[in-house]
Parts: sequence; structure tokens; C-alpha cells
Amino acid sequence: MMSEARVVSSPKRLAGVLDVPGDKSLSHRALLLNAMAEGVASVTNLLWGADCLSTIACLKRLGVNIEESQEDGNQGSERTPPTLTVRGVGAKGFAEPADVLDAGNSGTTMRLLTGILAGQPFLSILTGDASLRSRPMARVIMPLRMMGAQIWGRGGDTLAPLAIRGSVLTGIEYELPVASAQLKSALLLAGLRARGRTTVIEPGPSRDHTERMLKAMGAEIEIEGRRITLSPLARPLHCVDFSIPGDMSSAAFWLVAGTIHPQAHLSLRNVGVNPTRTGILDALYAMGANISLQHERLVGGEPVADIVVASSPLRGTEISGDLVPRLLDEVPVLAVAASMADGVTTIRDATELRVKESDRLAGIAAGLTSLGVTVEELHDGLIIHGSRKLRGARCATHHDHRLAMAFAIAGLVASGQTIIDDAACVDISYPAFWSDLDQICDPSAAL
Ligand code: S3P
Repeated sequence: MMSEARVVSSPKRLAGVLDVPGDKSLSHRALLLNAMAEGVASVTNLLWGADCLSTIACLKRLGVNIEESQEDGNQGSERTPPTLTVRGVGAKGFAEPADVLDAGNSGTTMRLLTGILAGQPFLSILTGDASLRSRPMARVIMPLRMMGAQIWGRGGDTLAPLAIRGSVLTGIEYELPVASAQLKSALLLAGLRARGRTTVIEPGPSRDHTERMLKAMGAEIEIEGRRITLSPLARPLHCVDFSIPGDMSSAAFWLVAGTIHPQAHLSLRNVGVNPTRTGILDALYAMGANISLQHERLVGGEPVADIVVASSPLRGTEISGDLVPRLLDEVPVLAVAASMADGVTTIRDATELRVKESDRLAGIAAGLTSLGVTVEELHDGLIIHGSRKLRGARCATHHDHRLAMAFAIAGLVASGQTIIDDAACVDISYPAFWSDLDQICDPSAAL
């Protein structure tokens, strides 16, 4: 269902300090991996967005006890997520779900759960919304079947809903056909219950949160370049408390806004800067952005920093190869930056964007074209001719949270009004997005 539209126009200046919401990838993993471990974990600053709520609902249906702490009267809101207590059931303690597991819009929920459930001795059915039911699942089903899993899906076992009858698994060595952290993680999580070692070889550097978290929980995991080997568990994983850092993929909207708006100064507190996630910083630096990292530190095994960004002129750049998986989710907003740069920006090797929450290459090209930008759509990327002059327009989001937020950022520098057709879809990853936007457009309102 389409929600109400939202109108954005260009403010005189952008200023303020923001705490972006907790990292989506880390939030899913803190829930799923703690559920598979033994003990009790407290998770703070979890992303309280629709995708993570889908993971919580699925885990509860699998018999996992997850409680929201109400000590401070905090019921959980778009700005203040409650502290969660996850009681791990161990790798063998899940219960057969009495009903279908609904992953909603969340690819991470569906793919990681498929890996976990492949080795559980019961039947589970996984489904999702129309977008998720059209996204490729064969990439996960095929290697899991090689491990001995029994999984079926629509469209010749390529699409959800998926039916999984858990079985005894055997570790394999597998070269991933795409640099996908969801696929890598699904196989590693299946490997936790498999006989023998599980080795995955990545074609490119996808986010490594699963590996870091498994290590912290006591798994034996070796990483040699692109080769990751998980040994069978000598002892159960133990639960680990997590304080989730802010999401670089959400910070990216403000990094671009703060760069392209001519009167901007923004500070973003407590953002995760894991090197597998900072491709957006590298790309913006190459374009000439004025961004600095402060107070770099480690929190729960993940690098974290505060980030300051100020207005600066940009030049076009080339984005391809190993940089792409390190900024995959940030391409929509990076394309907005490119449209405000001098010269041409070329993005290649990004075919994966066609199978995200929407076909993002097509969606970006259409949205930027309606904003008056000259864009060429390639089979694996985009060529964007920077113009520094965006003309407000109605932008179609295709219910895709990252397209909606990217076009809203374009609206902060476009002339006239930019209309985002489905404002509520930001709830997937950034429920407070619109109020954060209002706050930096009128910083005095926050005082
Ligand atoms: C994610 C991995 C990426 C990313 C997604 C989150 C994860 O997907 O686009 O938003 O948490 O593992 P792929 O693994 O499909 O590239």
C-alpha cells in the first residue's frame, strides 16, 4: 500500500547533530546469532525499524524469548529503541513454528534464516512481501542443497515462499557467485550445525559482521584473504551483549546532504565505520568531499566514529570493482551526489542493484531524470552527468526506502518542490528519517 507523499524543498542552511539509527545488518545479526547461542544477551540501540521487527517476530515464532525492557518506561519508538533481552536457545533449541514465518521486506531476515533453518529438525515456511517474493533465492538454496538441505520454492525453487524441511548438513567448500554478505552468512550459519568444515570463498569484500560476531561468541573461524572457514562447534556459542553503532547506510544520506548543500555543517554521532562498509566515504573523498572522522574507537569488536561533514564542491568519479560491495546500499544517494558534481560519474559492476528491494538502477535513473539530470542506464550501472542544477519533481520510490531517502536528499538542493510519493517506506531502515530531516533544516527547532 502506498502511504502519503512528502514534499521537500531547499532550506537556506543545514545544521545540527544527529544520532542515526542502529545498524540494520548488525541488528539482525545480534538477534539471530544470540538466539542460536546459549545464555542471555542485552542488545541496545537496535534498529527499531520494520525489517528488524520482522526478524524479532520470526524468532519469537521459533520459540525464542525476546523481551523489551520497560525499566525506563521506554516502550520503543522511532527515536529511542528499547533495550532488548534475548534468551538464546542454542543451535538445537528452536521449536517448529506453528505458522508461516514472515520476513516482510527483509532480504537479510529471509536469507540468514534459511541458512539457520536448513539444519533444524522440523518444517518451516518462509515468506515475505511482494518485493521479497520476487528477489532471487536460488543463490542460497543451491549451495545449501549441496550441504544436504531440503528446500523448495516457487518458480522452480528460485523464489519465496520457501519450504524448508531441516536435515543433517555436511560442510562444503563453495565459491560464491556474487559478493553477498547475506549468502555468505546463510552458509556460515548453516555450517554451525554441519558435520565438517564449511568454507566460503568471496569474489569481493562483502560486509564481515557475521564473521566478527561469530568469533566474539566463541566460534572457530579462520579468514585468509577472501577465504573463510568455519569449524564445527567444539562447544556452544555463548551470548554476547551488543551496543549497536549507528548505520553507515543511514549516515550516508546526511553525508551527501552535508556535502552538496552550499551552507551545511552536520555532525553524526556513533557511526559504524567497519572497513567493509566505508566505501561511501572513499567515493565521497575521491569526489572532493569535506568529511572528517573523530573519536575513532572499537565497540563490541566493531570500529565506530563520530563524523563531521561540511559543504564542498564535488567532481565526478568512477566507481567499480571491489569498491561496489563496500557501498552497495549507498549507490542511490551517491548518485544524487554525482548529479551535483562537476563532470561525469560512472558506476559499473553494480548489477546486484537490480535485485534489491526494487530495481535500483532503473529507479535511480528514472528519479534523477525527473529531477532534470542526464543519466544513462547501463546493464550494470549508471553514467550520471553532473549538472549542479536539480529541478524539483515528483519521484517514484517503488516502495523502496533507500530510493525515497535519496530523492528526499536531492530535494534539499533542488529548486521548487520535490515530492516523494511514498514517505512511510523509510520505516524499513530509518523510521525517524523525516523528523531528522526537519531537525537539520530548522536547527533552532531542536533547541
Ligand atoms: C546485507 C547485505 C547486503 C545489503 C543488505 C544487507 C546484510 O545484501 O545490500 O542491505 O545484512 O548482510 P547482499 O548480501 O544481498 O548484497
